[in-house]
Amino acid sequence: MTMVEPNTDIEIRLLIEAIYLKYSYDFRDYSGASIKRRIHHALRQLECKTISALQERVLHDPTAFMQLLQYLTIPVSEMFRDPEHFLAIRREVVPLLRTYPSIKIWIAGCSTGEEVYSMAILLREEGLLERTIIYATDINPQSLDKAKQGIYSMENLRTYTENYQRAGGQQAFSNYYTAAYGNAIFDSSLRDNVTFADHSLATDSVFSETQLVSCRNVLIYFNKKLQDRAFGLFHESLCHRGFLVLGSKETLDFSAYSEQFEALAKPERIYRKR
Ligand SMILES: C[S@@+](CC[C@H](N)C(=O)[O-])C[C@H]1O[C@@H](n2cnc3c(N)ncnc32)[C@H](O)[C@@H]1O
Repeated sequence: MTMVEPNTDIEIRLLIEAIYLKYSYDFRDYSGASIKRRIHHALRQLECKTISALQERVLHDPTAFMQLLQYLTIPVSEMFRDPEHFLAIRREVVPLLRTYPSIKIWIAGCSTGEEVYSMAILLREEGLLERTIIYATDINPQSLDKAKQGIYSMENLRTYTENYQRAGGQQAFSNYYTAAYGNAIFDSSLRDNVTFADHSLATDSVFSETQLVSCRNVLIYFNKKLQDRAFGLFHESLCHRGFLVLGSKETLDFSAYSEQFEALAKPERIYRKR
């Protein structure tokens, strides 16, 4: 006897396929449970009764698709998120990065840019920012626009300041931004050497050789096949002995690339290409 899929699962597959065919965004290899949760959340927010109704709407209305994209991509970030991770980059990775005459860093899935400004501040304090190019990529154009502006709500600045200090920050965090109308406007020179670009780990290929790739809190949303695709891109992009930094809940263990990397600081998820 063949098992019949529940209607919801069929509708989700059709929606994901429709998005791929119409807009070329490929969510087919995202983790099933998480995509299901996000689609149900989007249904409520976009006031659609069924997933089929949502599909009909996004197929005919690109604005509705952009709204749905905000729910599917989870544009959540924080400055110096997991401070011990940035501290480990400062202590373990920076001394080795220093040996390169010029440095290229790829921040994949940079969302609204908090990770990019954190990395730029750390590199400036270590005297490396001027000889570094940072490629900051994401699939969400609205997030990339926000990242380019570098303006964040003052409400979050207390947390960001604490994170910065715990990450080994050397100055007053307020030196890096100007407060205005409830926002913190970050020093634009931090992004002088940053290129923000649309790039999908699901469909695009490698674009540059890099010394460090940071991809944090993105792979948790992918299934194993797509995680392996992303690891393949990072492996190809990284120079000999380059560094790979993952999020606190992500690991190279059990991946197709586990043998190609060694752990440099395992608890902080920092790896080095063999
Ligand atoms: C939770 S945020 C992580 C932001 C940041 N890296 C951090 O750790 O704070 C996940 C980001 O991954 C991006 N993303 C999702 N699928 C992607 C893909 N296929 N290629 C590149 N980025 C993707 C989303 O748009 C979102 O901005």
